[in-house]
Amino acid sequence: MILGRNSFGDVANTDRVLSREQVSMLLNEWVLNDRLKLHMIQVGGLMGDWSREKEGLDEFHSWKWEMAGLLHDADWDQWPQEHCKRIVEYLEDQQVCPEIIRAIASHGPIHFGVEPVSRMDQLLFAFDELSGLIHAYSLMRPNGYEAMEVKGVMKRFKERTFAANVNRDDIYDACSRANLQLTDLIQFIIDHQGSYHLQ
Ligand SMILES: [Fe+2]
Ligand SMILES: [Fe+2]
Repeated sequence: MILGRNSFGDVANTDRVLSREQVSMLLNEWVLNDRLKLHMIQVGGLMGDWSREKEGLDEFHSWKWEMAGLLHDADWDQWPQEHCKRIVEYLEDQQVCPEIIRAIASHGPIHFGVEPVSRMDQLLFAFDELSGLIHAYSLMRPNGYEAMEVKGVMKRFKERTFAANVNRDDIYDACSRANLQLTDLIQFIIDHQGSYHLQ
């Protein structure tokens, strides 16, 4: 659904976040599907780890990235017709930092009509689809993420019938917006994603 606007939240709320406990309560209440919940935990974990390791952010600022990842699909399970709108409005009501809300609003530019502009926006857009493809690949390997290699992922990536719902063009688009090599993002996901689990 097109959001029809380009400004989210209130700058007066900059750096206002929910606690880890509030986020996990919201996930438990809104997301009944464990597969989807795991996807959000994975994208949240990647966002948090990336922001610390690659962007050099401190714990507080990396929590903002992680929160965006954890909540980006929060309304997809119960309100797919309102996907993105509902969580964006909820976070605005909760007076959450506008950077987090904007990152969530821009995680599907074709669908929501909002461009990923900040580094947080761009990485969320990049990790979203790629994380799912690599998770699907891990499930068909006997040892999951163990000894997974970039070239194995790239092979699946080029097979359009594998995880066919994952939009390859979106992934290329996300990498070029973030000025990142696809193979570097894949390596980062291989190195981290196996350590994220449903709580
Ligand atoms: Fe989504
Ligand atoms: Fe997603």
